[in-house]
Amino acid sequence: MSDRPIGVFDSGVGGLSLLRELRSLLPNEDFIYISDNAFAPYGALSPDDIRKRSQALTHWLCEQSCKIIVVACNTATTNAIESLRKTHPIPFVGIEPAIKPAALQTKTGVVGVLATKGTLSSGLFHQTSTSYGQGVRILEKEGKHLVEMIESGKLHSKEIEQLLQSYIQPMIEQGADHLVLGCTHYPFLTPILTRILPQHIKIVDCNGAVAKQVERVLNKRELGCESQHLGNITYFCTGDSQSMRQFVSSDEVNTLSIP
Ligand code: DGL
Repeated sequence: MSDRPIGVFDSGVGGLSLLRELRSLLPNEDFIYISDNAFAPYGALSPDDIRKRSQALTHWLCEQSCKIIVVACNTATTNAIESLRKTHPIPFVGIEPAIKPAALQTKTGVVGVLATKGTLSSGLFHQTSTSYGQGVRILEKEGKHLVEMIESGKLHSKEIEQLLQSYIQPMIEQGADHLVLGCTHYPFLTPILTRILPQHIKIVDCNGAVAKQVERVLNKRELGCESQHLGNITYFCTGDSQSMRQFVSSDEVNTLSIP
């Protein structure tokens, strides 16, 4: 058993959508969350730079004695988790676009995936999409500008709704019956998507499944906490705190410099 904290990081506020699930499943655990927004969006960085940022954040979280790291970012997972596992002895749980369940459940044989350029162009995404997407048409679409808009407080704007509509309309026309949200920022768009998508299209978001995986790893390694009290969450951001303040009260947001 271990009362050390769980480290969680993302390029910005997206990972808070996963942290929400983690918190409700593991309420007694302490968490340290980093939004690396000084370097966001990761989707526009080279694979090498995504690995460097992920290494730097992991290094800092390990210095804070984290017992497990949750890479709450599809772009960082698909580009960097292998290198993180090679260089750090602690367990990692990442998040990848949930192509497998969508490919198993589709009736039309067409699945849409919305993700960042960094995720869609990664080797790991290509591997998953080829092995689970057999016999299924996978329509990949880069969610260009969505992360920046969410970070800058335009989550509820008409502009984001129109942009989303333009990304998903071709998927609807080509018969997709599942839409995989391949970026942790996108679950915040679910209310808009539910409104604009035809009812038969299922939104697939794997935050719940990833939270359960974290619980399994903690149990297997006997790393769960002993505490019976509600755990603490400490929030950090490497850039401007405004984006975090959309979700977390301002006195809870700490700034941090990780070059
Ligand atoms: N939340 C990150 C993800 O899941 C966004 C990446 C970005 O900053 O472009 O991919």
